[in-house]
Amino acid sequence: KDDRIARISSSIRVIPDFPKPGIMFQDITTMLLDPVAFKDTIDLFVERYKEKNISVVAGVEARGFIFGPPIALAIGAKFVPMRKPNKLPGAVISEEYSLEYGTDIMEMHVGAVQAGERTLVIDDLIATGGTLVAAINLLERVGANVVECACVIELPDLKGRDKLGGKPLFVLVN
Ligand code: PRP
Ligand code: MG
Repeated sequence: KDDRIARISSSIRVIPDFPKPGIMFQDITTMLLDPVAFKDTIDLFVERYKEKNISVVAGVEARGFIFGPPIALAIGAKFVPMRKPNKLPGAVISEEYSLEYGTDIMEMHVGAVQAGERTLVIDDLIATGGTLVAAINLLERVGANVVECACVIELPDLKGRDKLGGKPLFVLVN
C-alpha cells in the first residue's frame, strides 16, 4: 500500500471525549502542521481525479474548505462552497439534514453548478453520512452529476457509506 497513507494517518490526532464524552475526535489540524502529510493528502486525491473530467469540486463547510480548493486548482475544476445557513449572499437552495441531535441546513448558490456537470464532493470525514447525503441532494436537485464523494477519514462503524444510495465513496484512512 502507498506509504504516504501511513504518514497521513499518524498525522491525525485523536482527542477523546471531544466535543462530548465518548466521542473520539479526529483532529486534522495536526495534519495541516505537517506539510508533507498535507501535500500527500492533496496529491492522492489529485492523482485519483485529475483525468476524470470533473468540472466541479464541492466542499462542505468548514473542514471541506481546507481540502477542496487545492484539489480543485490542481485538477482545473471550479470550487463550490456548501455552506451553513444564512452565510451565502446570493440566491440559494437549501437542504435540511439530520444530526445526532436535531437538524441543520446546508446551502449552495443557485447558478454555481450547471445541470450535467461532473462533480466531486469533498469533506474531511464521514461519520453518520448525513452531511454528505445533504450535499449530494443539493447538487442533484440542480442536475449535477455527482461522480463520487471523497473524505480523508471514514468512521466505518457508523455505516455512513450505506446511506449514500450507492454513490461511490473514496477515503484515505479509517
Ligand atoms: C463534521 C465533519 C463532517 C461531518 C461528518 O463536521 O467535518 O463534515 O461532521 O458527520 P456526519 O457524517 O455524521 O454527517 P461538523 O458538522 O462538525 O462541522 P465543521 O466541519 O464545520 O467543523
Ligand atoms: Mg464538517
